[in-house]
Amino acid sequence: MQVSIGLDVGGTKIAGGVVDEAGTILDRVRVPTPTDVPGLVRGIGDVAEELLRRVGRPAGEVPVGVAAAGYIDATRSIVRFAPNIAWREYPLGPELTARLGVPVRIENDANAATWAEFRFGAGRDVEHMILFTIGTGVGGGLVESSKLVRGGFGMAAEFGHFRIVRGGRLCGCGLHGCLEMYASGRALVRSAKQLVIDDPVRGADLLKRAGGDAEALQGRMVTEAALAGDEASIALLAELGDWLGEGVAQMCAVFDPVMVVVGGGVAEAGELLIGPARRTYLENLTGAANRPHAEVVTARMGNDAGIIGAADLATIR
Ligand code: BGC
Ligand code: NA
Ligand code: ZN
Repeated sequence: MQVSIGLDVGGTKIAGGVVDEAGTILDRVRVPTPTDVPGLVRGIGDVAEELLRRVGRPAGEVPVGVAAAGYIDATRSIVRFAPNIAWREYPLGPELTARLGVPVRIENDANAATWAEFRFGAGRDVEHMILFTIGTGVGGGLVESSKLVRGGFGMAAEFGHFRIVRGGRLCGCGLHGCLEMYASGRALVRSAKQLVIDDPVRGADLLKRAGGDAEALQGRMVTEAALAGDEASIALLAELGDWLGEGVAQMCAVFDPVMVVVGGGVAEAGELLIGPARRTYLENLTGAANRPHAEVVTARMGNDAGIIGAADLATIR
């Protein structure tokens, strides 16, 4: 049986796994994400090395893929730019290849998640789909005619940096008004903090979850409060869903997918996020009354999408 190794480099942890042809994770390793770039690269190498050791097959027989939150070049080896990490023109692929003695393919994290959903998850039965990941940032991915679209320079489908507000909030990418500034987990935390300060009565449940300190609020707390019925938190998620739906409508006008998958940590809110997104999508899709609509659904692969997608893509040339 063919196995490959996939790593997902996230803001809090580097998670890796040995993955089989059916997209099942057979073994896992995870370590906290180091905050400096040299430490980060060492950490990625350590996780990959440990997994290769556990597989115990000759070097070269086990492809390795790494999912990273940035703009990866067309050769799938250089991290050219990352809006939320200090990576610029970083030769991550060559460095890891040199250390591990096997070719290492780097993939955009959202592309990897998209591929995992397309192959094994929500998009298993469709040929045209797009995906939004709603986490710290907003990631995007596009599968067209069963192919992952990477674009001419490797950087296609950056849905998080599609401008939704002209002259809007300043984004980590240097531009203003990107979707990520309104529809990410970070945007959710920003609105939640504002709410708690502006309206302590409505924000009481959230403030309690943050131990009384607005600065300690996290996106997860908003989701938990909303799922437990807190009206203010439900409204915060609905507002985020509304922005997302706006982005979905625009991307659907361009790519005409049959399915829109929404993943990432914030998607754990399920219908509280997807419901409003779906509504806004349908209200803002061009020609909506006279065309079929894409299904808008939550991702199925959860936190494992990056690992599985990176591992599977590493097996494809
Ligand atoms: C980055 C993407 C990444 C996404 C999710 C965005 O800010 O531009 O490359 O896929 O965050 O991590
Ligand atoms: Na992408
Ligand atoms: Zn941006």
